[in-house]
Amino acid sequence: MPATNKATILLTGGTGFIGGEVLHQLQKNNNQVLAIVRGEHPKERLARRGALQGYDFPGAKTTIVSGDVGLAHFGNRSNILLPWRGRISALVHGAGLTSFDSTRRRELLRVNYEGAKNAARLARDLGCDRFILVSTAFLGGKEGRFIPETPVEHPGDWLSIYEESKYRAEIAVAAILAKTQTQLVVLRPAIVVNHQASGFALNKEHLHNLWRPLHRLSRAGQTVHVDARIRANPKGLKNMIPVDAVGRACLAVINNPDATGYFHAVAQQPIAHSKLMELTQQVLGLSGFRLTEKWQNPNRLERLIDESLASYRHYLSVSDPTFACKRLNKIVPNWNDPVDLNWDFMKRAFAAFARMPSSEEPGQQDSDGLVSNYHKNHLSPKLGQQLLQGREDVNAHFNLEVFGGNTGRISVTIKDGAISSVQKTHDSRASVLFCIDHYSFAKIIAGHLSPVPAFLDGRVDIEGNVEEGLRLASILTDFFSLHPYVQSGAKHA
Ligand SMILES: NC(=O)c1ccc[n+]([C@@H]2O[C@H](COP(=O)([O-])OP(=O)(O)OC[C@H]3O[C@@H](n4cnc5c(N)ncnc54)[C@H](OP(=O)(O)O)[C@@H]3O)[C@@H](O)[C@H]2O)c1
Repeated sequence: MPATNKATILLTGGTGFIGGEVLHQLQKNNNQVLAIVRGEHPKERLARRGALQGYDFPGAKTTIVSGDVGLAHFGNRSNILLPWRGRISALVHGAGLTSFDSTRRRELLRVNYEGAKNAARLARDLGCDRFILVSTAFLGGKEGRFIPETPVEHPGDWLSIYEESKYRAEIAVAAILAKTQTQLVVLRPAIVVNHQASGFALNKEHLHNLWRPLHRLSRAGQTVHVDARIRANPKGLKNMIPVDAVGRACLAVINNPDATGYFHAVAQQPIAHSKLMELTQQVLGLSGFRLTEKWQNPNRLERLIDESLASYRHYLSVSDPTFACKRLNKIVPNWNDPVDLNWDFMKRAFAAFARMPSSEEPGQQDSDGLVSNYHKNHLSPKLGQQLLQGREDVNAHFNLEVFGGNTGRISVTIKDGAISSVQKTHDSRASVLFCIDHYSFAKIIAGHLSPVPAFLDGRVDIEGNVEEGLRLASILTDFFSLHPYVQSGAKHA
């Protein structure tokens, strides 16, 4: 029996990357859990999060309550959560918004700041022994500096609204809990990356914004050379911690009733941007990428990668702060073991990216019908016409395959900037094959989705000559936006 007879852990954010790992650890530890999940069908949503990683969620010992952390008592009437008063030993607040996008300021403050305050007040009202706030180690602002395992001073100038929202949350929850029986624990992870054993990651932010597009450019068994610059300080340092280590740290805190205060879940050794890039290229079989702070006349691919990194750019121009990391050593078994973010780790991480399902399902569509109509109504009437002004130099021959329902196939030849032939079959002489789901194809030909970002995002696959495919995709972007195709009967967004 734990020191308290309060057996249940209240958890927010269980459908998320870190919260899901915490829930898994709690299941292994045989805890009763009260999980707050927002939206409709919370049970199914939690089950889906678990299934992504082979975890059996919600599991027999988890009770689910719907709730939005932006609201007092998570939007629940008093008869829903207050009956749990005296039965919760710790409220683990893992819900949050990990985004560095300044246009999301209002949402960031609502979820990260107001949400943390609502969670702390609920912990107080339920008489929880401890409130465990999943915060961040990135509280150093523009100056970087050393972050102690204590409350931090306001750094003056934030690197992002995300940091500000997390800092304000820490200050506010400490004030709310100051004169109560509920002890505060603040767990501050560094950059949370893939699970060490399975390679799994749910996160789409920070370094994942770089890894995903690079992973898309790789081809198994081939070295792909892409001569491209990435805007970053090669000497900057990044501090990364795998999600399973954060889950272990959280469980150790839960299991240790005396653990209170501030804990850093950070790596002992940060890694230099240049080293990380070298490792990434080696693992993915890429060459030709260079990190540089000089940024002049970017080409289209460089611009696209830069755009996918837009919200994280500040962090790539600086080194992460340095962090104290003494306190977890005392309560987490083997915490001193170096977290080895080596070649094997990256290999597993990239293999897991490849297994992640696409966010939008193609559904049972008639792709063959869509491709046939596009061919007949849109491409055939344009045969022999100049497609793009100033692009009379374009010569290409490619195959296209659209899946979802009956697969649709065509091959297209472009000669001196004009479509010279379209065939309703594949041509084995074509050097490039684009594979794409029905849903994304319909968006691309309507001019609502550009092919190169769609490729970098995993919606389009390029087989054969990837460099040639990327060059073509970039030219076709202009074609689709100048000549959009709206299917008859299609609903407009
Ligand atoms: N990822 C990192 O690198 C990192 C590093 C340091 C600290 N952190 C902190 O760790 C926490 C979790 O991050 P994460 O990477 O696990 O993010 P995540 O995968 O995006 O998960 C966020 C979780 O919060 C839930 N949530 C968001 N808004 C909510 C609301 N209004 N009401 C109820 N639930 C809400 C989400 O629910 P839905 O599934 O419904 O969206 C999801 O379960 C955040 O506070 C973040 O600041 C993250």
